[in-house]
Amino acid sequence: MSSVWIGSGIVAFTVSRDKLSTVNVWQVTTSTDFELGPFPDAPGYETAAKLDEEDSLAKYRERFVVHDPTLIYLDGNSLGRQPREAREIVDQVMSPEWSERLIGSWNDRWWDLQLDLGDLLAPLVGARPGEVVVSDSTSVNLYKLAGAAVRARPDRTRIITDDLNFPTDVYVLDGLARSHGLELTVVPSDQTFGPVEEILEEIDDRTALVSLSHTAYMSGYTYDMGLINAAAHDAGALTLWDLSHSAGAVPVDLEGTRTDLATGCTYKYLNGGPGSPAFLYVRESHQRSLENPIAAWWGHTSPFDMSLEFEPTDGIRRFHTGTMPILSLAAVEPGIRLALDAGIEAIRRKSVLLTSYFIEQWERHLARLGFELASPADPDRRGSHVSLRHDDGWRVTRALIEIAGVVPDFRSPDTVRFGFAPLYTSFSEIHTAVQRLERLVEQGMHETIDASRTKVT
Ligand SMILES: Cc1ncc(COP(=O)(O)O)c(C=O)c1O
Repeated sequence: MSSVWIGSGIVAFTVSRDKLSTVNVWQVTTSTDFELGPFPDAPGYETAAKLDEEDSLAKYRERFVVHDPTLIYLDGNSLGRQPREAREIVDQVMSPEWSERLIGSWNDRWWDLQLDLGDLLAPLVGARPGEVVVSDSTSVNLYKLAGAAVRARPDRTRIITDDLNFPTDVYVLDGLARSHGLELTVVPSDQTFGPVEEILEEIDDRTALVSLSHTAYMSGYTYDMGLINAAAHDAGALTLWDLSHSAGAVPVDLEGTRTDLATGCTYKYLNGGPGSPAFLYVRESHQRSLENPIAAWWGHTSPFDMSLEFEPTDGIRRFHTGTMPILSLAAVEPGIRLALDAGIEAIRRKSVLLTSYFIEQWERHLARLGFELASPADPDRRGSHVSLRHDDGWRVTRALIEIAGVVPDFRSPDTVRFGFAPLYTSFSEIHTAVQRLERLVEQGMHETIDASRTKVT
């Protein structure tokens, strides 16, 4: 048995001959006299209390596990909280599905689970039944969809993206471009706003695919999908959107915006759990003509005939690859149901109020302490997280976690990201978090923090 201290949280690794188990306990430091609040005398307290009182989604918080109510979790845009129902669903897979029904569960439920969950998720992104499947990771889905798109435009030589896109998206597109002898154009931005005009100028009759994140992971900038789709289609190109930072927080209308292809993860605002499978969307009218570049047995027309010749099946199943991790897959369901139950429009209304309230608090308390707003001020162009740049952003992030009991995340080189998950974040939490941050930086407490980076930031 060995244990490693990370700030005030202890991570204990217990190693025995046949098992490695890890226990990670978040603890808010009590050894310092750092004040955790609430702070009723600080400006904005009453506004937060009133907004909480009027919040029709407040009741959803109790549907999640809240292990420590003093810990303010503002990282649901990285890993959502655990829905209470998740344990029940996983327990059901463990028993009776796995323990008693054994392989029979494939025919009972597991074989179609990816499609059933896709149909369940579809309305959250404005898709129709049969257009969405829960499958693989976002990175793998990007490869499958972008690969299918460039194969469908064999005479074209360009893929267009921007530098707000998540690195994995750019790596996948770059790899595909290299292997197909194409050119990848990464349109530069000012790091906050999407370079819309520049992208529109780049799209031409050599363009096979335009691929962007709907809501940018760093700044939270949110694109007008319809505008980009229309320009791409006018030029004969296809579009592929990464919805990871939108799904479950920002309404998306894949049908209405005439999107061709999309993918996104389920572990952020959809609360599917660590490493939960992603989803992919292929517009119904493309499903016959597009070819999955990973020809694999789950996409075969009759996989159990065991033919060595690949015959792609029809419909969205064509974008399957292989056997899915059923425990993780099953755990995606409660988060989707919670979002459907709350309604994406109500979620969005609260999200706009949360991010707007945070920005108001930033202006009042944090701007003078070296925090610069790195997200759009216009809510129509903003997702559900807000980023602040600070010269000492890494140490501020660690100090927030280790001393102040507030969990944001850090994106290199200097950005602290604050995610607001409308199903469980309250306005009072934002008020308290900003007060803790203001006091922490005013007292220079972040300067006492070891500047070395953890593996996950
Ligand atoms: C916008 C975006 N795309 C893709 C990914 C990576 O997806 P995955 O690791 O599931 O392949 C992330 C991860 O946070 C992301 O934020």
